[in-house]
Amino acid sequence: MAGVGAALSDALTLPCGAVLRCRIAKPAMSDSLGSGAGDATPEQARLYQRWAAGGAALSIVGEVQGDPHALENPGNLVLHAGGDMDALRDVTRRATASGAHLWAQLGHAGALAHAGIGRRVGPSSLSLDGLTCAEMPVGEIEELPARYAATARIAKAVGFTGVQVHAAHGFLLSQFLSPLFNRRSDIWGGALDNRMRLLLTVVDAVRAAVGSDFPVGVKINATDGLAGGLSNQESLAAIRVLARQGIDLLEVSEGTYFPGAPSSSESEGGGVHGFCRRVRAAVPVPVMAAGGFKTRVQAVAALEGEIVDVVGVARGLVLDPDLPRAWTDGVDEDPTFPRFAGPLPEGGVTAWYTMRIAALAAHTEVGYDLKPQTALAAMAERDRERAGRWVARFGDPSGGR
Ligand SMILES: Cc1cc2nc3c(=O)[nH]c(=O)nc-3n(C[C@H](O)[C@H](O)[C@H](O)COP(=O)(O)O)c2cc1C
Repeated sequence: MAGVGAALSDALTLPCGAVLRCRIAKPAMSDSLGSGAGDATPEQARLYQRWAAGGAALSIVGEVQGDPHALENPGNLVLHAGGDMDALRDVTRRATASGAHLWAQLGHAGALAHAGIGRRVGPSSLSLDGLTCAEMPVGEIEELPARYAATARIAKAVGFTGVQVHAAHGFLLSQFLSPLFNRRSDIWGGALDNRMRLLLTVVDAVRAAVGSDFPVGVKINATDGLAGGLSNQESLAAIRVLARQGIDLLEVSEGTYFPGAPSSSESEGGGVHGFCRRVRAAVPVPVMAAGGFKTRVQAVAALEGEIVDVVGVARGLVLDPDLPRAWTDGVDEDPTFPRFAGPLPEGGVTAWYTMRIAALAAHTEVGYDLKPQTALAAMAERDRERAGRWVARFGDPSGGR
């Protein structure tokens, strides 16, 4: 991609031939607005219609699961044969009618599966304060690529226009990449070639399932931000290999949701921009930075400076879903980011944005002024209520294993 400094309103043709109508995308955000039984809701249809109408070229639905026991949150979507396909089609139809893309982020929360109703497994067992998980058996690892492929096939069938494999933020595929969390001594652990084997196999299986003309992206960490975790150097080495697998958009993020660790949805953002520049110079795959864009000037500079091909704006589009339209029209109208008085509870900022997403979906965002603590409590209450529905629908978290 080097050598093509672009403007915000320029279209981008992805390697598979699909076209993004401009350079602004909404990265995956777990909207937590599913039915509680893995199905799509009218709230989600309204939400993604709003982001499309606001001018974003692409919205990625966060944490779409193939395995209901690998959920990140009981508001996640689950794509399975018994699901409500009409509800999913309503979301994809309304979100793509104006020419925007809607991709499903294929997730598996791994050790971070939702407490109580998820099955916590990772490449290696963990016993940390506040977080324990079991080691994933080889047989289960071997089943995963087919599971991701089946999920991608359903995503395509119900009208998503692309998929993104989630390999960032400490969820399962990110844990496999990380030497801190993956201490296996079989072919799935050890040297980087082994630690990235699962991601590569998943990407291959997904590509085979959706065909060569359907967008397949990957979200990967530049670094976990943890001592002994994935380094920039190893991430870049993994990206070089991934780029040869025929992917369409590489989204670069950082951080993990492990207790006490830095997370992407709570950080100031922008920490990955320097790394994106290196990636963009190293591989011929379009690069998107997950966040760190608060102003139009920053977004234009990142495109013109050949740091990224696509500007990912997550929290900014929760504050103002019409931002892409304004920015591509040349209006320097930037969102006003909230300033929270500390000390903040862990996850409080993410909860504030999560509940504001719900307000956007309900068109009640004007006057939204929850405190992070109140947002956390509201989210927990909503999750508790949905957790019961989840277990009633999908059964015991051990998944019969
Ligand atoms: C409420 C919320 C939910 C998020 N959920 C996801 C998710 O499901 N998957 C994901 O890859 N990233 C998720 N993120 C991280 C964003 O995609 C993005 O990487 C991060 O917010 C930085 O971008 P920003 O500075 O534009 O906000 C989430 C962020 C927020 C604020």
